[in-house]
Amino acid sequence: MAALDAVRAQLAVLPPLVFAGEARRLTEALGDVAAGRAFVLQAGDCAESFAEFTADAIRDKLKVILQMAVVLTYGAGVPVVKVGRIAGQFAKPRSSPTERVGDLEIESFRGHMVNDDLPTAAARVPDPARLVAGYHQSVATLNLLRAFTKGGFADLAQVHAWNQEFVASSAEGRQFEGIAEGIDRALHFMAACGIDLAAEATLHEVDFWTSHEALLLDYEEPLVRRDSLTGEWYDCSAHMLWVGERTRDPEGAHCEFLSGVRNPVGVKIGTGATPDDVLALCARLDPERRPGRLTLITRFGAANVETALPPLLEAVRTEGYPVVWSCDPMHGNTFTAEGGRKTRRFDDILAEIRGFFTAHRDAGTWPGGVHVELTGDDVTECLGGVEDIVEGQLEERYTSACDPRLNARQSLDLAFRVAELLRG
Ligand code: PEP
Ligand code: CO
Repeated sequence: MAALDAVRAQLAVLPPLVFAGEARRLTEALGDVAAGRAFVLQAGDCAESFAEFTADAIRDKLKVILQMAVVLTYGAGVPVVKVGRIAGQFAKPRSSPTERVGDLEIESFRGHMVNDDLPTAAARVPDPARLVAGYHQSVATLNLLRAFTKGGFADLAQVHAWNQEFVASSAEGRQFEGIAEGIDRALHFMAACGIDLAAEATLHEVDFWTSHEALLLDYEEPLVRRDSLTGEWYDCSAHMLWVGERTRDPEGAHCEFLSGVRNPVGVKIGTGATPDDVLALCARLDPERRPGRLTLITRFGAANVETALPPLLEAVRTEGYPVVWSCDPMHGNTFTAEGGRKTRRFDDILAEIRGFFTAHRDAGTWPGGVHVELTGDDVTECLGGVEDIVEGQLEERYTSACDPRLNARQSLDLAFRVAELLRG
C-alpha cells in the first residue's frame, strides 16, 4: 500500500495530459452528435501495450481512423468527431479473476498498467510502478498524435498517404483511392475558384481526442485538476472517459468518480440493463442534461440489439436526456474459436450496427456513432471481411494483448458499410 500511495502522490504532481478547455470543446462537438448533426467514431486497441509501443504503430492506427472518418464524411456528408481509444487505454476488466495455464491457476492479465500478459504467476503480480509507466507512455503517445494531427500529416492533401500499401492493393483500398481522387479534384476546384486553401485551417489539421475506460481510480483520481478558468474539476488523463459494463453501478465508485468531473463521459450498456437502470445512469452522470456530456455505448450482440435497444431509446427520449447513442458492435459478439483464440465475426459486427441503425430509424432517434476495436496492422484476429479470414488463420498474426481487433482492411470496409447506412 505504501508503494501505491507513493505512486499516487507522484501522479498528483505530474503535468496533466489534456486541458479543461479541450474537454469542453469535445463536449461541444459531442453535443452536435447528440443533436443529430454529427457522427462520432471512437476507435483503437482493446488494450494498449507496453511491449508494442512504436511511432509506426501509432501512426498506422491514426491512418486507419482518419481513413474511416474521411469515408464517413465524404460518403455520408456528416462531420465526424474522432476519438481514439488511445493514450491511456491500459486497464482491463476481466470476466474471471484467474486463468488456467496448463495445470496452473494464475491471476488474469489486467492490462499493462496493472500486470504483465506473460502466462506465469510472477508476471501477473500487480505493480503500482506500472501506473507511472502508463502515464509516461500516454504522454509520449499523445505528443505524437498532436504532432501528426496538427503538423501536416492529417492535411487533406495527404489523403492518399493514409492508404497503407497492403490496403491500397485491395478492393477497399481502391475504393478509398476513388474518394481520395474526388477530394483532390474538390480541392483543385476550390483553389481554381479563388479560395485561399492555405488559409483554411480545417483542411490542414484535425481534432483528434483521446479516451479510455476509467477503471483504475488510483490512476484517474490523482490526475484530476481544477480548471483555473471555471473552478470546475476535470480528469486530465484524457479528453473523454467511460465506465465499463462491469463497473457501471450508479451507486458504485466508478460512477461516483465520473459524476464529479466535467469531462464528457461514456457508459457501456449491455443486455442486462433495464430502462430504469439506464435512467439511473443518466440521472447520476448527467443531472444537468448537458448535450454532449453523456454517451451511451450499447453492446448487445447482433442477436439482441433489435429487442434490447428500443425500450432504452424510448425511456431516455421520454425523460429528455440529450445523450449521444453509440454502438459498440464488438463486445457482445465475442466468442472463443476451436483453437482457443477469442474472436469476432465481421458479419456479426456489421449486423449489430445494422440493428442499431434500424432501432434508431424506428424510434426517430439519431444513431450517433460507433465504438470499435481496431489496429492499423495486418492482423488476423477477427473472422471474415472481404479477405475472408477463417478460424485456421487466427494463429497467423494474432497480436492483441486482449480482445480481437479489426485489421486496417476490415476497418475500412466497415466504414464504407456504415457510410451506406448513414446515407440510407
Ligand atoms: C472494452 O471496451 O474493452 C470492454 C471491456 O468493454 P465492456 O465494458 O463493454 O465489456
Ligand atoms: Co475489449
